[in-house]
Amino acid sequence: MRAALLIVLGLAIGIIGTVFTMRALNERNPLPQAVMVTMGFHRHQLSQAVKGQHCDAAANLGQLQHLQMTASDIPAAFPDAPQPFQDLAGHLRTALQTAALSAPADCPSLIAALKPVDQVCKECHQQYR
Ligand code: HEC
Repeated sequence: MRAALLIVLGLAIGIIGTVFTMRALNERNPLPQAVMVTMGFHRHQLSQAVKGQHCDAAANLGQLQHLQMTASDIPAAFPDAPQPFQDLAGHLRTALQTAALSAPADCPSLIAALKPVDQVCKECHQQYR
């Protein structure tokens, strides 16, 4: 009777231990996703501007600069990523810099400025997401 109880107790402790270990393994670093969600947010703001045909020069520039700043966190957020990934992150920063420097003042120029940016987002997502 006592042996059976000990076996049950041992099994219970084992199961609880496994659950805790699995949980710890699932708890991953939230920063990479946070950086991407933030870039997604600013990209979405620009889409909304185009959709509403309300492409204000200052607002466009603000969103592009936010994207640029957030993109500069990619290397720190993905420190273990391979070199081709880091190269794509560099391409994104260049594309965003060009877009911000072009200072799009209306919707057609904003759409044109975002095209090369979206291309890099897509290229990296196809390979690494
Ligand atoms: C250098 C590679 C790279 C580039 C460039 C890149 N991404 Fe990502 N993105 C990723 C990876 C990797 C993930 C998956 C991250 C994760 O789940 O931890 C991701 C995920 C995302 C997600 C989903 C986040 C979530 O889980 O809800 C969004 C939104 C996103 N990226 C937006 C963008 C936008 C917008 C751009 C361009 C302005 C961009 N990304 C450019 C690598 C990249």
